Amino acid sequence: MSSKPHAQRQSRKGAWIAIGILVLALVAGVTFIFSGIYNVAADDPHTRPVYWLLETARDRSVAAHARNVPPPPDLADPARIAAGAGLYAEMCAACHLAPGMERTEIAQGLYPAAPELARGNDLTPAEKFWVIKHGIKSTGMAAWGKTHNDTLIWNMVAFLQKLPGLSADQYQTLVKAAPEGHDEMMKEQDGGQDPAASDHHDDDMGHPH
Ligand code: HEC
Repeated sequence: MSSKPHAQRQSRKGAWIAIGILVLALVAGVTFIFSGIYNVAADDPHTRPVYWLLETARDRSVAAHARNVPPPPDLADPARIAAGAGLYAEMCAACHLAPGMERTEIAQGLYPAAPELARGNDLTPAEKFWVIKHGIKSTGMAAWGKTHNDTLIWNMVAFLQKLPGLSADQYQTLVKAAPEGHDEMMKEQDGGQDPAASDHHDDDMGHPH
């Protein structure tokens, strides 16, 4: 009976072909990376598949991580919204723009572009909180949680809930209404959390990536 050894020979041949293809793919990948052919320039847009891949990975990551964000405080509180407006005008408008504002030079050059947050988006308050606190790798979006506690970040989220639909005048009025010291670290107002202890409470996946 020679059929069994023959089948074995066939499957061993198949395994070697598969290994050969894997090695070739690996060599091609390493050659591609080290050759410098890939263009990292911000003025050279991603191809559609790469853009889709990055965007999908980002959206899925933000949605998954935002599940651990604690429930939002009262985002309709006018004092909180005004404080958030002050922070937004100082730290965010340069990239994300605001009603009545011309496109800044940095907004024109960023890639991926910073979305105009006044146009609204489909992020939940928890997702906005998570993105503002932790930032997004390899984009211009910084992790503001390194320098701002959760109260300040919720203030910005509260303002972002209001931002779409504001006229230029309404925006300016809100920014001027920002209380003195709107950017100072306050003791956590909501849920009585200690700012130091709250540092990782929204994120049990905070290991290095
Ligand atoms: C240096 C430019 C820059 C600054 C300053 C900046 N951002 Fe961003 N932000 C970005 C970019 C770029 C993205 C998009 C990242 C991406 O496409 O993955 C982004 C994304 C976001 C998103 C997610 C929007 C969405 O629809 O996915 C939010 C929310 C946000 N930023 C809020 C803020 C807030 C609040 C501040 C101020 C504290 C701020 N950003 C400051 C560049 C900036």
